[in-house]
Amino acid sequence: MSAQPTDNRGLSLLSGRTFLMQTFGCQMNEHDSERIDGMLTAAGALEVATAEEADIVVYMTCCVRERAEERLYGRVSTMAGLPPAHDGRPRVVAIGGCIGQRDAERLARDLPGVGVVFGTHNLGQLPGLLEAQLETGKTQVQVVEDSDEDATSLPSRREQRWHAWLPITSGCNNFCTYCIVPYVRGREKSRPLEEIVAEASLLVADGVREITLLGQNVNSYGRDIYGRSRFADVLRAVGETGIERLRFATSHPKDLLDETIAAMAEVPAVMPQLHLPVQSGSNRILNLMNRVYTREDYLGLVERLRRAVPDIALSTDIIVGFPGETERDFEDTLDLARQVGYAQAFTFIYSPRTGTPAAQMEQTATHEQIQDRFDRLVAVIQDTAHACNQVDLGTVQRVLVEGASRRDPSMLSGRSEKNQVVHAPLPMDALGSQIPIERLTGTMVDVRVDTARTWYLSGEVVALPEGQGRANR
Ligand code: 5AD
Ligand code: SF4
Repeated sequence: MSAQPTDNRGLSLLSGRTFLMQTFGCQMNEHDSERIDGMLTAAGALEVATAEEADIVVYMTCCVRERAEERLYGRVSTMAGLPPAHDGRPRVVAIGGCIGQRDAERLARDLPGVGVVFGTHNLGQLPGLLEAQLETGKTQVQVVEDSDEDATSLPSRREQRWHAWLPITSGCNNFCTYCIVPYVRGREKSRPLEEIVAEASLLVADGVREITLLGQNVNSYGRDIYGRSRFADVLRAVGETGIERLRFATSHPKDLLDETIAAMAEVPAVMPQLHLPVQSGSNRILNLMNRVYTREDYLGLVERLRRAVPDIALSTDIIVGFPGETERDFEDTLDLARQVGYAQAFTFIYSPRTGTPAAQMEQTATHEQIQDRFDRLVAVIQDTAHACNQVDLGTVQRVLVEGASRRDPSMLSGRSEKNQVVHAPLPMDALGSQIPIERLTGTMVDVRVDTARTWYLSGEVVALPEGQGRANR
């Protein structure tokens, strides 16, 4: 962490200030936000729930797609109109993440009331930048192209005590032609295996029951430091720490090795679920996207995964309306989605990102055609998701409880091993009173599924085990 200026009582200027974190975008951003939360808390600042109460508002933003950007601009403009949270303390707005990295000068110039802009390579400098801003009232812009800062060693405050994100790589070397990430997050860097395992062990000792390993492409983990991918070794070693549930994102299909599939099947903590972005089902478009696999490669991979982990739930990312996509190309995507039978898919309408090769390619479809394709794809995914959930009707699923259902506080909500959302009425204790949700959150319960809808399962809690590993497999 960078040195922090102090006031004349020896306290950090951040001490006693209130702050709010707002995160738009991917899991990597979510995790960066947890690190910032940890640093500001360590400096004595207090997190609050609304912008009105906050002396400092930190936006962590993503520029992978246009929408997050538009939301950011809207929010920051609204913020400029709010009265200060505490008398005589102008609110400081800080913007970081991918947009900070890419658009630093523009943000500081065009958005009213922005006090600090920082990039993806210098998270650790944020407390110092905030203090400099508080001290001088001047906008602080600090963005570096690359740095040796090891953001992963910064303190982190977890949003949930039972779940942790664990970054294993940062950056990306793939240069998919539509994607801005390699330009804003830099080249792929892996953390040493021992460091990952040590952090996982600490998390387990701290009560974490589920870890999600993070990287833009976890499958190429280790190439930069070991000369070959050692992701399978990561799964096996983290699996040894006693963690109950292990997930990871994101996997690039071109780098998913058979030894990794074997580790997924053999390590009991690895959950039967995989996010495997396909982006398109057309070989012509995959080639234009620089994805380096064909639909046949992808379908072959899915077959090998299903052979090794028969009940695996697959999810994906798909882009609709990539430049030059024809109706024929799109039908290949629909066909692939049906063949794979995705449990879930994140579907995106292509948006050109300045500086990427695809932004120079010609768009041949109209808005209406693209919207129509998008709607048809969503309908297919709803069908496949619905079908995936029907398989679990009547089964007992082990569920990690995440809290009360947002719609009905008398229901608990959690995730199955396959990452399905599961709801159930709060169970009774031996004396016949409802167990409060606070006692169940972060624990495992068994739910017998009697309803399977497109996006969730529901049923009755049949056991409150505190066991390890998987149930009902
Ligand atoms: N337009 C639309 N979707 C995009 N994604 C990445 N870049 C773009 C873009 N320019 C999607 C991809 C990726 C996900 C995180 O965002 O599907 O997997
Ligand atoms: Fe972007 Fe492709 Fe890297 Fe994913 S693998 S972050 S889509 S360049």
